[in-house]
Amino acid sequence: MKLTLTLTATLLLAAWFQANSTAEPATVAVRESFAIKTKSLAVTLQVGADGRLYQQPVQAGSSPAVPVRDDEFYPQAGDGYVWEPALEVTHADGNTSTVLVFDSLTQTNETADITATRIRLHDSAYPFYVTLCFKAHLDEDVIEQWIELNHAEKSAVTLQRVESSSLLLGGDVYLTHFFGDWAKEMLSPITEKITPGTKVLDSKLGVRASQFRNPSFILSLGGKGNETNGTVLAGSLAWSGSFQCEFDNYGQGVRALTGINPFASAISLPAGKSFVTPTMLWVWSTNGLGDMSRKFHRWARDFGMRDGHTPRQVLLNNWEATGFDFDFQRIVGLYDPAKEIGTELFLLDDGWFGNKYPRVNDHAALGDWQPNRQRLPNGLAPLASEAVRRGLRFGIWIEPEMVNPKSELFDAHPDWAIRQPKREVELQRHQLVLDLTRPEVQTQEWNMIRSILSVPDISYAKWDCNRYLTQPGSPYLSPARQSELWVDYVNALYALMEKTAKTFPATELMLCSGGGGRADYGALKYFHEFWPSDNTDPTLRVPMQWDYSYFFPVMALASHVTHWGNRPMHFACAVAMSARFGMDLDLTKLSAQDKAICAGAIIAYKQIRDVTQLGDLYRLEDPHENFRGALNFVSPDRRHAVVFAFQLKEGANRPVFPQGLDPAQRYTVRELNPAPGREAIPQEGNSLTGAELMAGGVRPSCANAIEASVIELAPSAVSAADTLHAFGTGSR
Ligand code: DGJ
Repeated sequence: MKLTLTLTATLLLAAWFQANSTAEPATVAVRESFAIKTKSLAVTLQVGADGRLYQQPVQAGSSPAVPVRDDEFYPQAGDGYVWEPALEVTHADGNTSTVLVFDSLTQTNETADITATRIRLHDSAYPFYVTLCFKAHLDEDVIEQWIELNHAEKSAVTLQRVESSSLLLGGDVYLTHFFGDWAKEMLSPITEKITPGTKVLDSKLGVRASQFRNPSFILSLGGKGNETNGTVLAGSLAWSGSFQCEFDNYGQGVRALTGINPFASAISLPAGKSFVTPTMLWVWSTNGLGDMSRKFHRWARDFGMRDGHTPRQVLLNNWEATGFDFDFQRIVGLYDPAKEIGTELFLLDDGWFGNKYPRVNDHAALGDWQPNRQRLPNGLAPLASEAVRRGLRFGIWIEPEMVNPKSELFDAHPDWAIRQPKREVELQRHQLVLDLTRPEVQTQEWNMIRSILSVPDISYAKWDCNRYLTQPGSPYLSPARQSELWVDYVNALYALMEKTAKTFPATELMLCSGGGGRADYGALKYFHEFWPSDNTDPTLRVPMQWDYSYFFPVMALASHVTHWGNRPMHFACAVAMSARFGMDLDLTKLSAQDKAICAGAIIAYKQIRDVTQLGDLYRLEDPHENFRGALNFVSPDRRHAVVFAFQLKEGANRPVFPQGLDPAQRYTVRELNPAPGREAIPQEGNSLTGAELMAGGVRPSCANAIEASVIELAPSAVSAADTLHAFGTGSR
């Protein structure tokens, strides 16, 4: 308390001094100060004498300053603020200005590690209320932020723009963002200084966050950060629809505005109803990108995804193996070879449904979710129970939100699909999106999900979404409410996902959107993992997984061995086992050697998955910049570690230097699933201390392009057999 008063008095004095000694910019006297704090970040807020809420810019190093008008924390359009506003509202009487003044602050400790803050503001002339909400995770340096808004005006208010966050940053700010496209997701990181003007990363795809741009980014303050140094702030918007992240450099600072894309999305909010924005996630570190992402991963395992403390099983998917060409016998024929090599779960992909219009290719049947009687005469149940009988769990592919015009559902309900009147219908992959704002569609999709996931022995599902919106018209919503489609759709989708997760708590769920279109924390909280890309060429997966790992723990990244790129099986397996290991291969057609490599990789994966998936990740050599990529994982107790080296180009073999080990502990070095014909690594079987390993490195067995080496650092005191026991096989 004493500190607050002293600070307030100092700031008042400084405000008076500055107001009386300089002409501009006009400063604002401070009435009250408080902060949203984590262990090493404090976002300092100030209530001005004018009642408005201001923010001290977040920057590398501290430089407290007296606020000026442009430093408003959540600026509103229409009354003096001339840069990009966080809030733009048309009030019931047509007034396009809003003036928010401070009402109250409540801060509560939800747990020893989480402080919740709610700051209530109201319009000085209207019964219009905005609450700025924060959840600060102290140890992880994560701040979750969102906005709640309601009013008691005479009639509806139009929300033109409501940002989830509008953080003010000072000093030089560098932005790292990730451009991509289908099969190239996250492959092109770009780092640039935010110069005066606005830089916008957005999407207008409606039913998915990304295809080209991603709602996750990194800000480096005071200079470019690297893995071990620099002040960095990761941002990720938890929203699976059109988003906008805008970085407005107005000369005195940079404002990062993040939220639902305001593009064509005005929302009419009746009196008494609330509007809640998606959550913006901020993750802070003054020790570079590695520390930042380890905190992000810890937060994600606890709060951002389902069952974040259960290592994932090995999955076999039939998509790349059979495509649409299968029947009961062919699928059952894949089970024994899968079980033989150690796979734990089988996923039946697209093509199992549709009768009047059978799903024999991607032209028909979406919407008709009855098993195809010719292919599966007795439905899904015998396929699932046969898998379980042979020791595999069984999973199923669904795409609940879509309809093919060639389907019984569309024949019966052409008005259930999203489209624009009087325009030629534009299909993507021969399909349309069902209009989830319509209650009958919500019911139809839920009934379909419930009946499929209720089939006995189905314990996994892949939820796909293979197109985005290009003609955002709802035959259900009234003409005046058409602009609400974007937001209403995503909220209805979340209701469906939430119901699915709650009704089927034991069913594991994979999020997929024609590749990585739904790599966001909005949907992930209902899921266990997501599909990062249809591109499974392991040479591209190395940089892709590297980039995703800034934001997501590897247990969330489905990584399958396929024939994409025709890479050596050993390399493909090493890349896939560094994330959530799966296979998408016809095992009946593999050579004996490749089969043995896969089996060896599965044994190795089971041995280290507790470490890779529950431990800390250290990114060591960036595959975008080097001839190889290298990383290591360390178990939470630092007793067990694993090093991955993925050589992409020719280059001199040299040691990889692991990080994060216990310097005093001894680790036994051994290569897991070594590639046939390669010499043993020089340190094979040696027992070395963490200090020795971190200083001297481990030399991988790979020395040529498209070779990989996976090296376990097991606690020396424990024998190999005990290691398996002590760290678990990760089985469920
Ligand atoms: C797109 C997904 O990304 C693929 O893995 C596969 O499930 C197909 N859809 C099936 O149509």
